[in-house]
Amino acid sequence: MKKVLITGAHGLLGQKISLILARESAAEILMTDIQRSTPFDVPRFDYHQLDVTRLGDVKSLIASYRPDVIINTAAKTDVDDCEIQRQEAWRVNVDSVKHLVIAVRRLEQCRIIHVSTDYVFSGEEGMYSEDSRPNPVNYYGKSKLAAENVLRTGGVDHLIVRTQLLYGTGVNIRKNFVLWTLAMLKQGKPFGVVDDQVGNPTLVDDLAFAILKLAETSTSGLYHVAGSEAVSRYQWARAIAMVFGLDPGVIYPIKTAELNQLARRPMNSTFVTLKFESEFGFSLSNIQKGLERFRSQLQQGARLFQMLNRSN
Ligand SMILES: NC(=O)c1ccc[n+]([C@@H]2O[C@H](COP(=O)([O-])OP(=O)(O)OC[C@H]3O[C@@H](n4cnc5c(N)ncnc54)[C@H](OP(=O)(O)O)[C@@H]3O)[C@@H](O)[C@H]2O)c1
Repeated sequence: MKKVLITGAHGLLGQKISLILARESAAEILMTDIQRSTPFDVPRFDYHQLDVTRLGDVKSLIASYRPDVIINTAAKTDVDDCEIQRQEAWRVNVDSVKHLVIAVRRLEQCRIIHVSTDYVFSGEEGMYSEDSRPNPVNYYGKSKLAAENVLRTGGVDHLIVRTQLLYGTGVNIRKNFVLWTLAMLKQGKPFGVVDDQVGNPTLVDDLAFAILKLAETSTSGLYHVAGSEAVSRYQWARAIAMVFGLDPGVIYPIKTAELNQLARRPMNSTFVTLKFESEFGFSLSNIQKGLERFRSQLQQGARLFQMLNRSN
């Protein structure tokens, strides 16, 4: 891995991958995202604006930069928004992958590492492995499955990493479940959390590290990579309260149906992650360990970013 291009590099996962790559590898890194400029002013981070929905831009940047690995984290990730803005969801989540495939076909050697989701499954069975049959219940899941299929049929070297329930710290990131729960707990007022949605919470640092381990090999195909423990959102929220020394008593269980969300959710999208764990010899943090690491990162106040960021 000599030259890595990261799409969606301002997102939760894109930031972490960039940071860990800069720290742990000698690779040249090009961060890209839709914004014109970047909040990261770091010697090891080159930045280039790239809207992945624009075929011409994707082709010309990839032709001139000539990466040997592209890590594609760019996506429209707001599940309810995807349900109403379907064309936009398709353009960002599916057409973008077509564009990458077209651009990469012109290079001698380049692998696309693409990030996908548990939302490709219906959530009726749970314990999904790489061999389980996808059957998405909402438009976001449909678009992410279509993107996987673009890669499978695109004739380029690729690796698909499905993950779920990401949480972590970062600069200007969207609110994730742990940050939302902490904000609610700090208000001290009773609030409801669904107890009928089950999944594997995944610390974004763990996922970024796992993706880099995958990137260092020449492996291709599909991997499920997620935190090593499955819980309901309600149990997860209580665990968050306890790790942060806040009162779990203010959290009460509710049902998903009470939320009247625009997009249907898969109820049990738990993963079997044995393929990754047996091939790479480690598993991702469980709830307690992941939350403790997250807590210490918050306590450091994103010092790492500040240290790396010349402007701070
Ligand atoms: N978060 C989760 O729980 C979760 C679970 C399973 C799978 N995943 C997958 O993991 C990947 C990373 O997720 P994440 O949580 O890091 O997402 P995120 O924080 O929303 O980051 C996605 C990034 O892509 C950018 N982007 C959007 N449209 C773009 C475009 N047209 N061109 C270039 N960049 C564009 C976004 O910019 P804006 O913010 O300006 O739109 C954002 O910086 C995604 O593929 C997602 O589907 C996430």
